Amino acid sequence: MIYLDNAATTCIKPYSVINAVKNELLYSANPGRSSHKLSIKSFNNIYKARELLCELFKVNKPENFVLTPNATYALNYAIKGILKSYDHVIITSMEHNSVIRPVYNIPNISVTVVIGDKYGYINPENIKNNIKSNTALIIINHSSNVNGIVQNIKEISKIAKLNNIPILIDASQSAGILDINAINYDMIAFPGHKSLYGPQGTGGLYINSNINLNTIIEGGTGNNSKSKNNPLELPERLESGTLNTPGFCGLSEGIKFVLKETTNGIKEYEHSLLQLLINKIKNLNGITLYSPDDINLISNSVSFNINNLDSTLVADIFDKEYNICVRPGYHCAYPAHENLGSEKSGSVRISVSYFNTKSEIDKLIDAIYYITKNVSTI
Ligand code: ALA
Repeated sequence: MIYLDNAATTCIKPYSVINAVKNELLYSANPGRSSHKLSIKSFNNIYKARELLCELFKVNKPENFVLTPNATYALNYAIKGILKSYDHVIITSMEHNSVIRPVYNIPNISVTVVIGDKYGYINPENIKNNIKSNTALIIINHSSNVNGIVQNIKEISKIAKLNNIPILIDASQSAGILDINAINYDMIAFPGHKSLYGPQGTGGLYINSNINLNTIIEGGTGNNSKSKNNPLELPERLESGTLNTPGFCGLSEGIKFVLKETTNGIKEYEHSLLQLLINKIKNLNGITLYSPDDINLISNSVSFNINNLDSTLVADIFDKEYNICVRPGYHCAYPAHENLGSEKSGSVRISVSYFNTKSEIDKLIDAIYYITKNVSTI
C-alpha cells in the first residue's frame, strides 16, 4: 500500500512512538492526581512531552503548552476562550472547519474573511486593512490542508502586535515541517498525530503568558479541589479530566524523531518528493493543479483534478486499482476550494510524510498518466 494521506494523519510512525505507547499502557497511572510513585512517573512522562514541545517551538515554559486530543480542541479552546458576542474576528478563506465552525457559533460575532490570491496566499496588507476597533482576534492557517500554501505568519503577527490584537496560528499542517518560533505568536494550535508522528488523540495549544483564556471545559485538575472553578494557572486551567498519557508518551518520541531529523531536513525531503510530482504533472493534458509549482510556497500537500473528473472517483481508482491512499473532496475546508476554483467537486490531495519514497511517487505518477489518458466523463 502507498499511503499519501499524511495531511489527515501520518500512517507510519517511528517504532519508538509505538514502543512508548505500549510501555506506558503496560504500567500507567493518572498523572498529577495521586502522590504514589506510579502517578508521579506518569506525571513526569507528561511533563517530558511539554519540555520537548518547548524545544520544538523554541520557548522555555513547559506549562504554556496545554495538551489536547487534537488541533480542533485546541482551536476551540483558543477561539471560544477569547471571543465574545459583538467582537470582530479576522479569518481567511483558507481556514479549516475547525476554525470556521467555532467562530460562527459565537452569537452575534462579526467575521471578516480575507480572501487569498489564486493559490490562497493571503497578502498581509489585506489583514491590516480589515482591522476594526473591536477586532479581538486574528486567526490564520499556517499552511493549507487543501493545497499546502504557506502563509507569511511572521508578517501577519507583526501587524497583529502593532495593533495590539492577539493572533492564533493554526499549525495543523506545518508543525514538524516548518520552523516555528512560538515566541512570535500569542497562540498556536497543533495536532500531535500528523507531522509530529504521535498517535491519534494527541494535540496541543501553545499559549503565550500574556493571554488569559476563559474555560469551555471545566472539571477535575488534581489541584485547587475546594474551588468551584478551574484554577487560573496553566496548563491545569485548560486540562480538565484525565490526559491521554500513553498517547503523549508516544508524542514525545515523535517529537524526538522530528528534532533528530530536523524540520528543515524533513521539509527538504518531502519537498523533493512533491517537486518530482509537480514537475511530471504540471504540463500534463487534463491536469488542473491547485498548488503553486514553486515548492517553496507549500508544505507537504498538493491538490489537483484530472479531466474534470469527480475527485472521489479519481481517489477510488487510486485506491482500488493502484493501492494508493489519498484524500478527495472538500477536506473540511469548502471556502478554500471556492478560493482555488475547485468548488465543483473538491480536489484530489496528495500529502507526503518523511516515510514516503521516490518510487512511491513514481507509481503515483504512472497512475495519474493512465487516468489522464484513459478515463473521462464522456
Ligand atoms: N484536517 C485533516 C485533513 O485535512 C483531517 O485531512
